[in-house]
Amino acid sequence: MAGYLDRIGAGKILINAEPLSYDYVPEELVGRDEQLQQMAGIFQQINDHQISCRVAITGNVGCGKTVLSHVFSRDLQRHLGEERALKLVHVNCRNFPSKAQVLQRIVTHLDSRHPERGFGSGEVLQSIRKQLHGRNEHLLLVLDEVDHLLRADKGDLLYQLLRIDEGREIKGTISLIIISQEQVLDQLEGAVLSRFGQSNHIRLEAYQGTALTAIATQRAALSCHEGSISDGVLRTIGQRSAETGDARVAIELLEDSIKKAERAGRDEVIANDVRFLAKEIGRTVEPSIVVDLNKHAQMILLALCRRLRKEPEVTTGDAEKLYRVVCEEYEEDPRSHTTFWKHLKRLEDLELIESHISSRSKGRGRTQHLSMPAALPGAIEKRLESALKGK
Ligand SMILES: Nc1ncnc2c1ncn2[C@@H]1O[C@H](COP(=O)(O)OP(=O)(O)OP(=O)(O)O)[C@@H](O)[C@H]1O
Ligand SMILES: [Mg+2]
Repeated sequence: MAGYLDRIGAGKILINAEPLSYDYVPEELVGRDEQLQQMAGIFQQINDHQISCRVAITGNVGCGKTVLSHVFSRDLQRHLGEERALKLVHVNCRNFPSKAQVLQRIVTHLDSRHPERGFGSGEVLQSIRKQLHGRNEHLLLVLDEVDHLLRADKGDLLYQLLRIDEGREIKGTISLIIISQEQVLDQLEGAVLSRFGQSNHIRLEAYQGTALTAIATQRAALSCHEGSISDGVLRTIGQRSAETGDARVAIELLEDSIKKAERAGRDEVIANDVRFLAKEIGRTVEPSIVVDLNKHAQMILLALCRRLRKEPEVTTGDAEKLYRVVCEEYEEDPRSHTTFWKHLKRLEDLELIESHISSRSKGRGRTQHLSMPAALPGAIEKRLESALKGK
Protein backbone atom coordinates (compact mmCIF):
# COMPACT_ATOMS: atom_id res chain seq x y z
CA MET A 1 0.00 0.00 0.00
CA ALA A 2 1.12 3.51 -0.76
CA GLY A 3 2.19 4.84 2.64
CA TYR A 4 2.10 8.48 1.54
CA LEU A 5 -1.70 8.17 1.33
CA ASP A 6 -2.01 7.27 5.02
CA ARG A 7 -2.77 10.85 5.98
CA ILE A 8 -5.97 10.85 3.91
CA GLY A 9 -8.88 10.90 6.29
CA ALA A 10 -6.58 11.45 9.26
CA GLY A 11 -7.92 13.81 11.91
CA LYS A 12 -6.88 15.46 15.14
CA ILE A 13 -7.28 12.16 16.96
CA LEU A 14 -7.60 9.50 14.30
CA ILE A 15 -4.55 8.57 12.25
CA ASN A 16 -5.88 5.46 10.56
CA ALA A 17 -9.48 4.23 10.61
CA GLU A 18 -8.72 0.75 9.30
CA PRO A 19 -8.19 -0.94 12.70
CA LEU A 20 -11.71 0.16 13.63
CA SER A 21 -13.37 -1.56 10.68
CA TYR A 22 -15.30 -4.83 11.07
CA ASP A 23 -13.04 -7.05 9.05
CA TYR A 24 -9.72 -5.79 10.37
CA VAL A 25 -7.64 -8.70 11.63
CA PRO A 26 -5.17 -7.57 14.31
CA GLU A 27 -1.64 -8.96 14.43
CA GLU A 28 -2.40 -10.27 17.92
CA LEU A 29 -5.53 -11.24 19.75
CA VAL A 30 -6.15 -9.83 23.19
CA GLY A 31 -6.53 -12.42 25.95
CA ARG A 32 -7.17 -15.47 23.78
CA ASP A 33 -3.82 -17.23 24.30
CA GLU A 34 -5.43 -20.25 25.90
CA GLN A 35 -7.83 -20.77 23.00
CA LEU A 36 -5.05 -20.33 20.43
CA GLN A 37 -3.06 -22.95 22.33
CA GLN A 38 -6.07 -25.25 22.22
CA MET A 39 -6.36 -24.76 18.46
CA ALA A 40 -2.66 -25.51 18.06
CA GLY A 41 -3.20 -28.69 20.05
CA ILE A 42 -5.97 -29.81 17.73
CA PHE A 43 -3.84 -29.02 14.67
CA GLN A 44 -0.71 -30.51 16.17
CA GLN A 45 -0.07 -32.93 13.31
CA ILE A 46 -1.03 -30.64 10.48
CA ASN A 47 2.55 -30.63 9.16
CA ASP A 48 1.95 -34.27 8.12
CA HIS A 49 0.66 -34.24 4.53
CA GLN A 50 -1.75 -37.09 5.13
CA ILE A 51 -3.52 -35.41 8.03
CA SER A 52 -6.72 -33.36 8.15
CA CYS A 53 -7.90 -31.54 11.29
CA ARG A 54 -11.32 -30.38 12.44
CA VAL A 55 -12.54 -27.98 15.04
CA ALA A 56 -15.80 -26.30 16.01
CA ILE A 57 -15.81 -22.84 17.61
CA THR A 58 -18.94 -21.69 19.37
CA GLY A 59 -19.90 -18.71 21.54
CA ASN A 60 -22.17 -15.71 21.77
CA VAL A 61 -22.29 -12.73 19.47
CA GLY A 62 -19.06 -10.75 19.28
CA CYS A 63 -16.96 -13.04 21.44
CA GLY A 64 -14.29 -13.24 18.76
CA LYS A 65 -15.05 -16.50 16.91
CA THR A 66 -14.45 -15.16 13.42
CA VAL A 67 -11.33 -13.24 14.32
CA LEU A 68 -9.94 -16.26 16.19
CA SER A 69 -10.29 -18.34 13.03
CA HIS A 70 -8.63 -15.63 10.91
CA VAL A 71 -5.72 -15.12 13.27
CA PHE A 72 -5.17 -18.84 13.75
CA SER A 73 -5.26 -19.71 10.05
CA ARG A 74 -3.02 -16.78 9.15
CA ASP A 75 -0.47 -17.69 11.83
CA LEU A 76 -0.61 -21.35 10.89
CA GLN A 77 -0.03 -20.56 7.23
CA ARG A 78 2.97 -18.42 8.14
CA HIS A 79 4.30 -21.03 10.51
CA LEU A 80 4.06 -23.92 8.08
CA GLY A 81 5.48 -21.93 5.18
CA GLU A 82 6.68 -24.34 2.54
CA GLU A 83 6.51 -27.34 4.83
CA ARG A 84 2.86 -27.61 3.87
CA ALA A 85 1.21 -25.01 1.65
CA LEU A 86 -2.14 -23.94 3.08
CA LYS A 87 -4.94 -22.54 0.96
CA LEU A 88 -7.22 -20.47 3.21
CA VAL A 89 -10.89 -20.16 2.31
CA HIS A 90 -13.40 -18.47 4.60
CA VAL A 91 -17.07 -18.80 3.69
CA ASN A 92 -19.78 -17.04 5.65
CA CYS A 93 -22.78 -19.34 5.33
CA ARG A 94 -25.17 -16.54 6.23
CA ASN A 95 -24.39 -15.10 2.80
CA PHE A 96 -24.01 -18.48 1.08
CA PRO A 97 -26.39 -20.83 2.86
CA SER A 98 -26.81 -23.63 0.33
CA LYS A 99 -24.50 -26.51 -0.45
CA ALA A 100 -24.13 -25.38 -4.08
CA GLN A 101 -23.23 -21.83 -3.00
CA VAL A 102 -20.60 -22.95 -0.52
CA LEU A 103 -19.02 -25.28 -3.07
CA GLN A 104 -19.04 -22.55 -5.69
CA ARG A 105 -17.23 -20.21 -3.27
CA ILE A 106 -14.53 -22.79 -2.68
CA VAL A 107 -14.10 -23.58 -6.36
CA THR A 108 -13.87 -19.94 -7.41
CA HIS A 109 -11.20 -19.38 -4.76
CA LEU A 110 -9.17 -22.14 -6.34
CA ASP A 111 -9.93 -21.24 -9.94
CA SER A 112 -11.64 -17.94 -10.71
CA ARG A 113 -12.66 -19.16 -14.18
CA HIS A 114 -14.51 -22.22 -12.97
CA PRO A 115 -17.98 -22.31 -14.58
CA GLU A 116 -20.98 -21.58 -12.35
CA ARG A 117 -23.28 -24.43 -13.27
CA GLY A 118 -23.61 -27.88 -14.61
CA PHE A 119 -21.91 -30.00 -11.95
CA GLY A 120 -23.26 -32.12 -9.14
CA SER A 121 -21.78 -31.68 -5.68
CA GLY A 122 -19.82 -34.95 -5.89
CA GLU A 123 -18.16 -33.81 -9.10
CA VAL A 124 -17.35 -30.38 -7.74
CA LEU A 125 -15.79 -31.94 -4.64
CA GLN A 126 -13.62 -34.21 -6.69
CA SER A 127 -12.56 -31.31 -8.89
CA ILE A 128 -11.63 -29.38 -5.72
CA ARG A 129 -9.64 -32.38 -4.53
CA LYS A 130 -7.82 -32.73 -7.82
CA GLN A 131 -6.90 -29.08 -8.03
CA LEU A 132 -5.53 -29.08 -4.50
CA HIS A 133 -3.43 -32.17 -5.00
CA GLY A 134 -2.24 -30.88 -8.35
CA ARG A 135 -0.84 -27.81 -6.63
CA ASN A 136 0.24 -29.65 -3.55
CA GLU A 137 -1.96 -27.45 -1.39
CA HIS A 138 -4.00 -28.26 1.70
CA LEU A 139 -7.33 -26.49 2.04
CA LEU A 140 -8.11 -24.92 5.40
CA LEU A 141 -11.80 -24.25 5.04
CA VAL A 142 -13.66 -22.07 7.54
CA LEU A 143 -17.43 -22.40 7.45
CA ASP A 144 -18.53 -19.40 9.48
CA GLU A 145 -22.11 -19.09 10.81
CA VAL A 146 -22.49 -22.68 9.75
CA ASP A 147 -25.95 -22.97 11.34
CA HIS A 148 -27.32 -21.30 8.19
CA LEU A 149 -25.88 -24.09 6.06
CA LEU A 150 -27.10 -26.76 8.45
CA ARG A 151 -30.61 -25.35 8.30
CA ALA A 152 -30.69 -25.53 4.51
CA ASP A 153 -28.64 -28.64 3.97
CA LYS A 154 -28.80 -30.62 7.26
CA GLY A 155 -25.31 -32.10 7.59
CA ASP A 156 -25.00 -33.20 4.01
CA LEU A 157 -22.15 -31.05 2.77
CA LEU A 158 -20.24 -31.47 6.02
CA TYR A 159 -20.57 -35.21 5.64
CA GLN A 160 -19.27 -35.06 2.08
CA LEU A 161 -16.38 -32.80 3.03
CA LEU A 162 -15.40 -35.07 5.88
CA ARG A 163 -15.46 -38.10 3.59
CA ILE A 164 -13.64 -36.51 0.68
CA ASP A 165 -10.59 -38.78 1.07
CA GLU A 166 -12.42 -41.94 2.00
CA GLY A 167 -11.26 -44.92 -0.05
CA ARG A 168 -8.46 -42.83 -1.58
CA GLU A 169 -4.81 -43.46 -1.26
CA ILE A 170 -3.80 -39.85 -0.82
CA LYS A 171 -5.45 -38.31 2.20
CA GLY A 172 -5.28 -34.97 3.98
CA THR A 173 -7.15 -32.82 1.44
CA ILE A 174 -9.21 -30.54 3.67
CA SER A 175 -9.11 -29.27 7.24
CA LEU A 176 -12.26 -27.73 8.59
CA ILE A 177 -13.13 -25.04 11.09
CA ILE A 178 -16.85 -24.62 11.67
CA ILE A 179 -18.18 -21.63 13.60
CA SER A 180 -21.54 -20.82 15.11
CA GLN A 181 -23.24 -18.92 17.90
CA GLU A 182 -25.32 -22.03 18.50
CA GLN A 183 -24.12 -25.29 19.92
CA VAL A 184 -24.09 -26.80 16.43
CA LEU A 185 -22.45 -30.03 17.43
CA ASP A 186 -25.73 -31.09 19.00
CA GLN A 187 -27.38 -30.73 15.61
CA LEU A 188 -25.01 -32.99 13.75
CA GLU A 189 -25.91 -36.56 12.94
CA GLY A 190 -23.92 -39.36 14.49
CA ALA A 191 -22.07 -40.13 11.25
CA VAL A 192 -20.90 -36.54 10.87
CA LEU A 193 -20.14 -36.09 14.54
CA SER A 194 -18.02 -39.22 14.81
CA ARG A 195 -15.91 -38.09 11.85
CA PHE A 196 -15.70 -34.62 13.29
CA GLY A 197 -14.43 -35.64 16.69
CA GLN A 198 -16.57 -34.61 19.60
CA SER A 199 -13.67 -33.32 21.64
CA ASN A 200 -12.61 -30.80 19.03
CA HIS A 201 -14.79 -28.09 20.39
CA ILE A 202 -13.75 -24.65 21.58
CA ARG A 203 -16.34 -22.72 23.52
CA LEU A 204 -15.60 -19.01 23.79
CA GLU A 205 -16.92 -17.15 26.80
CA ALA A 206 -18.44 -13.68 26.47
CA TYR A 207 -15.95 -10.91 27.25
CA GLN A 208 -15.94 -9.16 30.61
CA GLY A 209 -15.27 -5.45 31.07
CA THR A 210 -11.52 -5.80 31.50
CA ALA A 211 -11.13 -7.80 28.29
CA LEU A 212 -13.27 -5.29 26.39
CA THR A 213 -11.15 -2.45 27.78
CA ALA A 214 -8.04 -4.28 26.58
CA ILE A 215 -9.54 -4.75 23.10
CA ALA A 216 -10.52 -1.07 22.89
CA THR A 217 -7.02 -0.15 24.09
CA GLN A 218 -5.42 -2.23 21.35
CA ARG A 219 -7.56 -0.62 18.64
CA ALA A 220 -7.03 2.88 20.02
CA ALA A 221 -3.26 2.38 19.97
CA LEU A 222 -3.43 1.17 16.37
CA SER A 223 -5.66 3.93 15.08
CA CYS A 224 -5.13 7.09 17.12
CA HIS A 225 -2.49 9.64 18.09
CA GLU A 226 -0.71 8.65 21.26
CA GLY A 227 -2.23 10.18 24.36
CA SER A 228 -5.48 11.18 22.66
CA ILE A 229 -7.52 8.63 24.64
CA SER A 230 -6.81 8.14 28.31
CA ASP A 231 -6.97 4.82 30.17
CA GLY A 232 -9.98 6.13 32.05
CA VAL A 233 -11.94 6.71 28.84
CA LEU A 234 -10.98 3.25 27.59
CA ARG A 235 -12.20 1.77 30.86
CA THR A 236 -15.51 3.57 30.40
CA ILE A 237 -15.81 1.98 26.96
CA GLY A 238 -15.05 -1.44 28.46
CA GLN A 239 -17.63 -1.00 31.22
CA ARG A 240 -20.37 0.24 28.93
CA SER A 241 -19.94 -2.62 26.49
CA ALA A 242 -19.60 -5.22 29.26
CA GLU A 243 -23.30 -5.87 29.49
CA THR A 244 -23.28 -7.20 25.93
CA GLY A 245 -19.95 -9.07 26.18
CA ASP A 246 -19.61 -8.13 22.50
CA ALA A 247 -16.23 -6.83 21.33
CA ARG A 248 -17.89 -5.24 18.31
CA VAL A 249 -19.82 -2.94 20.65
CA ALA A 250 -16.59 -1.87 22.38
CA ILE A 251 -14.95 -1.04 19.04
CA GLU A 252 -18.05 0.82 17.87
CA LEU A 253 -18.17 2.87 21.07
CA LEU A 254 -14.52 3.72 20.55
CA GLU A 255 -15.03 4.86 16.96
CA ASP A 256 -18.13 6.78 17.85
CA SER A 257 -16.46 8.67 20.68
CA ILE A 258 -13.45 9.53 18.52
CA LYS A 259 -15.77 11.02 15.90
CA LYS A 260 -17.69 12.95 18.50
CA ALA A 261 -14.52 14.44 20.01
CA GLU A 262 -13.21 15.37 16.56
CA ARG A 263 -16.50 16.98 15.61
CA ALA A 264 -16.20 19.09 18.75
CA GLY A 265 -12.75 20.15 17.53
CA ARG A 266 -10.88 18.47 20.39
CA ASP A 267 -7.65 16.50 20.09
CA GLU A 268 -8.60 14.29 23.02
CA VAL A 269 -11.53 11.99 23.73
CA ILE A 270 -13.26 12.59 27.06
CA ALA A 271 -15.56 10.27 29.03
CA ASN A 272 -18.59 12.30 27.97
CA ASP A 273 -17.95 11.38 24.34
CA VAL A 274 -18.64 7.73 25.12
CA ARG A 275 -22.21 6.95 24.23
CA PHE A 276 -24.50 5.09 26.58
CA LEU A 277 -26.01 1.91 25.28
CA ALA A 278 -29.80 1.72 25.07
CA LYS A 279 -29.99 -0.77 27.90
CA GLU A 280 -27.97 1.47 30.16
CA ILE A 281 -30.02 4.52 29.30
CA GLY A 282 -33.05 2.61 30.46
CA ARG A 283 -31.39 1.54 33.62
CA THR A 284 -28.95 4.13 34.87
CA VAL A 285 -28.52 7.46 33.11
CA GLU A 286 -32.04 7.83 32.02
CA PRO A 287 -33.57 9.10 35.29
CA SER A 288 -31.61 12.34 35.15
CA ILE A 289 -31.84 12.78 31.39
CA VAL A 290 -35.54 12.09 31.15
CA VAL A 291 -36.58 13.84 34.36
CA ASP A 292 -34.65 17.00 33.52
CA LEU A 293 -36.20 17.39 30.10
CA ASN A 294 -38.61 20.20 29.38
CA LYS A 295 -42.24 19.13 29.74
CA HIS A 296 -43.00 19.33 26.00
CA ALA A 297 -39.87 17.39 25.13
CA GLN A 298 -41.07 14.75 27.58
CA MET A 299 -44.47 14.64 25.92
CA ILE A 300 -42.90 14.29 22.47
CA LEU A 301 -40.68 11.52 23.76
CA LEU A 302 -43.63 9.76 25.37
CA ALA A 303 -45.59 9.95 22.11
CA LEU A 304 -42.60 8.44 20.29
CA CYS A 305 -42.15 5.69 22.89
CA ARG A 306 -45.75 4.59 22.57
CA ARG A 307 -45.49 4.25 18.80
CA LEU A 308 -41.92 2.92 18.61
CA ARG A 309 -42.64 0.16 21.06
CA LYS A 310 -44.74 -1.39 18.32
CA GLU A 311 -43.12 -0.10 15.18
CA PRO A 312 -39.52 0.44 14.12
CA GLU A 313 -40.00 4.01 12.93
CA VAL A 314 -42.41 6.89 12.65
CA THR A 315 -42.52 9.87 10.29
CA THR A 316 -42.08 13.31 11.80
CA GLY A 317 -45.55 14.20 10.55
CA ASP A 318 -47.11 11.35 12.50
CA ALA A 319 -44.89 12.13 15.49
CA GLU A 320 -46.30 15.64 15.66
CA LYS A 321 -49.86 14.31 15.54
CA LEU A 322 -49.10 11.81 18.29
CA TYR A 323 -47.55 14.60 20.36
CA ARG A 324 -50.78 16.57 20.07
CA VAL A 325 -52.71 13.58 21.40
CA VAL A 326 -50.39 13.42 24.42
CA CYS A 327 -50.84 17.17 24.96
CA GLU A 328 -54.58 16.62 25.12
CA GLU A 329 -54.12 13.84 27.65
CA TYR A 330 -52.06 16.14 29.92
CA GLU A 331 -54.26 19.16 29.18
CA GLU A 332 -51.49 21.25 27.66
CA ASP A 333 -51.56 23.46 24.58
CA PRO A 334 -49.28 22.02 21.90
CA ARG A 335 -46.25 24.17 21.08
CA SER A 336 -45.68 25.54 17.56
CA HIS A 337 -44.31 23.47 14.72
CA THR A 338 -40.92 25.22 15.00
CA THR A 339 -40.67 24.52 18.72
CA PHE A 340 -41.63 20.90 18.10
CA TRP A 341 -38.68 20.64 15.69
CA LYS A 342 -36.32 22.25 18.19
CA HIS A 343 -37.29 19.66 20.76
CA LEU A 344 -36.75 16.87 18.27
CA LYS A 345 -33.29 18.18 17.53
CA ARG A 346 -32.49 18.29 21.25
CA LEU A 347 -33.69 14.69 21.73
CA GLU A 348 -31.51 13.66 18.83
CA ASP A 349 -28.49 15.42 20.33
CA LEU A 350 -29.09 13.48 23.52
CA GLU A 351 -29.12 10.32 21.39
CA LEU A 352 -32.52 9.35 22.66
CA ILE A 353 -33.85 9.33 19.11
CA GLU A 354 -32.34 8.89 15.68
CA SER A 355 -33.55 10.33 12.42
CA HIS A 356 -33.07 9.52 8.79
CA ILE A 357 -34.45 10.87 5.54
CA SER A 358 -36.09 8.59 3.03
CA SER A 359 -37.13 9.46 -0.47
CA ARG A 360 -39.17 6.31 -0.80
CA SER A 361 -42.58 7.88 -1.11
CA LYS A 362 -42.31 8.99 -4.72
CA GLY A 363 -43.57 12.40 -5.71
CA ARG A 364 -44.12 13.40 -2.12
CA GLY A 365 -40.67 14.75 -1.47
CA ARG A 366 -38.38 13.41 1.20
CA THR A 367 -39.80 12.09 4.43
CA GLN A 368 -37.99 12.21 7.73
CA HIS A 369 -38.31 9.11 9.89
CA LEU A 370 -37.59 8.81 13.58
CA SER A 371 -36.49 5.73 15.46
CA MET A 372 -35.06 4.81 18.86
CA PRO A 373 -32.51 2.31 20.14
CA ALA A 374 -34.51 -0.91 20.42
CA ALA A 375 -34.68 -1.30 24.20
CA LEU A 376 -35.38 2.35 24.95
CA PRO A 377 -39.13 2.91 24.51
CA GLY A 378 -40.05 0.09 26.89
CA ALA A 379 -37.44 1.25 29.39
CA ILE A 380 -38.46 4.90 29.70
CA GLU A 381 -42.17 5.07 28.96
CA LYS A 382 -43.34 4.54 32.54
CA ARG A 383 -40.74 6.91 33.88
CA LEU A 384 -41.87 9.62 31.48
CA GLU A 385 -45.48 9.13 32.51
CA SER A 386 -44.69 9.50 36.19
CA ALA A 387 -42.44 12.51 35.52
CA LEU A 388 -45.26 14.19 33.60
CA LYS A 389 -47.77 13.50 36.36
CA GLY A 390 -45.43 15.09 38.86
CA LYS A 391 -45.16 18.37 36.89
N1 LIG B 1 -9.56 -11.08 21.52
C1 LIG B 1 -9.70 -10.12 20.61
N2 LIG B 1 -8.66 -9.31 20.35
C2 LIG B 1 -8.78 -8.33 19.44
N3 LIG B 1 -9.90 -8.07 18.75
C3 LIG B 1 -10.98 -8.84 18.99
C4 LIG B 1 -10.92 -9.90 19.91
N4 LIG B 1 -12.11 -10.51 19.96
C5 LIG B 1 -12.90 -9.86 19.09
N5 LIG B 1 -12.22 -8.86 18.49
C6 LIG B 1 -12.78 -7.95 17.50
O1 LIG B 1 -14.13 -7.73 17.84
C7 LIG B 1 -14.98 -7.76 16.71
C8 LIG B 1 -15.98 -8.88 16.86
O2 LIG B 1 -15.32 -10.15 16.83
P1 LIG B 1 -15.79 -11.33 15.85
O3 LIG B 1 -16.33 -10.76 14.58
O4 LIG B 1 -14.69 -12.28 15.74
O5 LIG B 1 -16.98 -11.91 16.73
P2 LIG B 1 -17.88 -13.19 16.44
O6 LIG B 1 -17.82 -14.03 17.66
O7 LIG B 1 -17.48 -13.81 15.16
O8 LIG B 1 -19.33 -12.52 16.34
P3 LIG B 1 -20.62 -13.09 15.54
O9 LIG B 1 -21.21 -14.15 16.40
O10 LIG B 1 -21.53 -11.89 15.46
O11 LIG B 1 -20.17 -13.57 14.21
C9 LIG B 1 -14.06 -7.93 15.52
O12 LIG B 1 -13.75 -6.65 14.98
C10 LIG B 1 -12.82 -8.56 16.11
O13 LIG B 1 -11.68 -8.23 15.36
MG1 LIG C 1 -18.46 -13.97 13.31
